[in-house]
Amino acid sequence: MTKAVDIDWSKLGFNYIKTDYRYISVWKSGSWDDGKLTEDNTLTISEGSAALHYGQQCFEGLKAYRTKDGKIQLFRPDQNAKRMKSSCRRLLMPEIPEEKFIGACVQVVRANAHYVPPYGTGATLYLRPYVIGVGDNIGVKPAPEYIFGVFCIPVGPYFKGGMTPVNFIVSEYDRAAPYGTGAAKVGGNYAASLMPHEVAVKKGFADCIYLDPLTHRKIEEVGAANFFGITKNNKFVTPKSESILPSITKYSLMHVAKEYMGMEVEERDVLIDKLDEFAEAGACGTAAVITPIGGIEYNGKLHVFHSEKEVGPVTKKLYDILCGIQFGDVKAPE
Ligand code: COI
Repeated sequence: MTKAVDIDWSKLGFNYIKTDYRYISVWKSGSWDDGKLTEDNTLTISEGSAALHYGQQCFEGLKAYRTKDGKIQLFRPDQNAKRMKSSCRRLLMPEIPEEKFIGACVQVVRANAHYVPPYGTGATLYLRPYVIGVGDNIGVKPAPEYIFGVFCIPVGPYFKGGMTPVNFIVSEYDRAAPYGTGAAKVGGNYAASLMPHEVAVKKGFADCIYLDPLTHRKIEEVGAANFFGITKNNKFVTPKSESILPSITKYSLMHVAKEYMGMEVEERDVLIDKLDEFAEAGACGTAAVITPIGGIEYNGKLHVFHSEKEVGPVTKKLYDILCGIQFGDVKAPE
């Protein structure tokens, strides 16, 4: 029996909503316990927790989708499990085995099934798995204990307007250094982005574009999302760099562009002074899905791609196919 919840699905943005159950598992003395669901959305941890002082933590983001026939499906949770393992390794935290990660996500979705938005609303259930270093500690060293949690919230578009283009400004700040933690999904990268984001918003932009810290010539990320461009001769291009987050949505779009749309796909440097090569551009990620980029301001000049008002045709097609797969309407090409 599905419980009813009083939510206007069409008005959802990307905001915290307390749902009924979340999963918690604890790592102590060398192993993870079985974990359990709980109604308590608070954590009690030692004031000396390494997550609080030294940022020893990582997280993931994935979504559950309601299909036309009322079923619920996750999109590529194995990829999030793999990425979380690699973030844990980078911060010397115990890995979450893939079956445990996916099992926890499935339990949370099942227990909160009434929060999975109806098919046709475009809204989804966002899952937020995380690992934090906890336990009594003060030296700069890995924590003695860890918590792995997964909670969920129903969400709508990340950027207001969803598939309406928004503008971005190139930031003077860097996000993550070469050989740093840019490719790991760790809170420190996002903490470093709070001020550049606020600076961009105060100037009237949706968010900022980060360039590579070494040369400041190449695009790395778009706020908390990856960048892609469609060249004037119809190639899907996205930056290649060791210091950007390997976005699962980005790799899915590369697959869609190649296998469903017959496009050439290139992962390579994207130069900030060569934006002219693109007919369209977008930001992509689990939360953002695809957000069309209207224009990018760099050195005081706004470079407009397809339009500041309307999404370009290739970006729209990529979005329709990706969402079609995620909501179970589009099958693999013959
Ligand atoms: C995601 O797309 O899941 C993100 O990580 C973006 C963000 C909300 C941190």
